[in-house]
Amino acid sequence: MVRACMRPAASASSGPRVLVLGGTGRVGGSMATALSQLRPDLNILIGGRNREKGMSLVSKLGERSEFIHVDIRNTSRLKAVLEGVDLVVHAAGPFQRDDKCTVLQAAIFTKTRYTDICDGVDYSWRAKSFHEQARASGVPALITAGISPGVSNVMAAELVRTAKGESGGEPETLRYRWCRSNYVGHKLVTSWGGCNCL
Ligand SMILES: NC(=O)c1ccc[n+]([C@@H]2O[C@H](COP(=O)([O-])OP(=O)(O)OC[C@H]3O[C@@H](n4cnc5c(N)ncnc54)[C@H](OP(=O)(O)O)[C@@H]3O)[C@@H](O)[C@H]2O)c1
Repeated sequence: MVRACMRPAASASSGPRVLVLGGTGRVGGSMATALSQLRPDLNILIGGRNREKGMSLVSKLGERSEFIHVDIRNTSRLKAVLEGVDLVVHAAGPFQRDDKCTVLQAAIFTKTRYTDICDGVDYSWRAKSFHEQARASGVPALITAGISPGVSNVMAAELVRTAKGESGGEPETLRYRWCRSNYVGHKLVTSWGGCNCL
């Protein structure tokens, strides 16, 4: 996805710039760490309000990383930060308590590629209402792209595709469960999800 979202870097030596908003948090921090390992050529900007947490992560990510102090509620600061960024990953929730789409709007305004890990239904519908604006500005915006929904929906689509292939018919109902485990500090945390749909 990162490769698809990248516009050519300003110069080959500078490399593409990815801003992870909420990069000081649990999901944003894991994402930034994984990205820096998968794509060492990226400049990873950690966006948040807590400089201490941000600098701590930046020191682990290496010289291609930097901390950007930004509060996503400050629209003018947000737009200024997005200038010169190739892709913004919005992981600074909580999406359920947000009644605006400031990051998406700033991304459309500055023509910055956008993705988020939204897990709030209202936020998701609000974000969809910017479809035409994003299209008119030529901004790829991939919303609700976290584990759930997002990856879980891709899993559901794949199950439907397989079922159709195996039975040759149209599935009427889909019930599935998924489980993932990861270490938070030294603690193994397991989470469950799933859905009944179609
Ligand atoms: N789709 C999914 O599968 C999925 C899974 C997990 C979580 N989520 C969503 O992702 C959000 C983040 O989850 P998390 O567990 O990573 O939470 P978290 O650990 O609390 O991280 C959120 C980060 O966002 C930053 N932040 C909060 N308000 C901000 C603001 N106004 N301006 C700039 N930065 C701000 C905070 O950094 P500073 O304190 O440095 O500002 C914080 O480190 C959740 O709220 C949830 O809605 C989605």
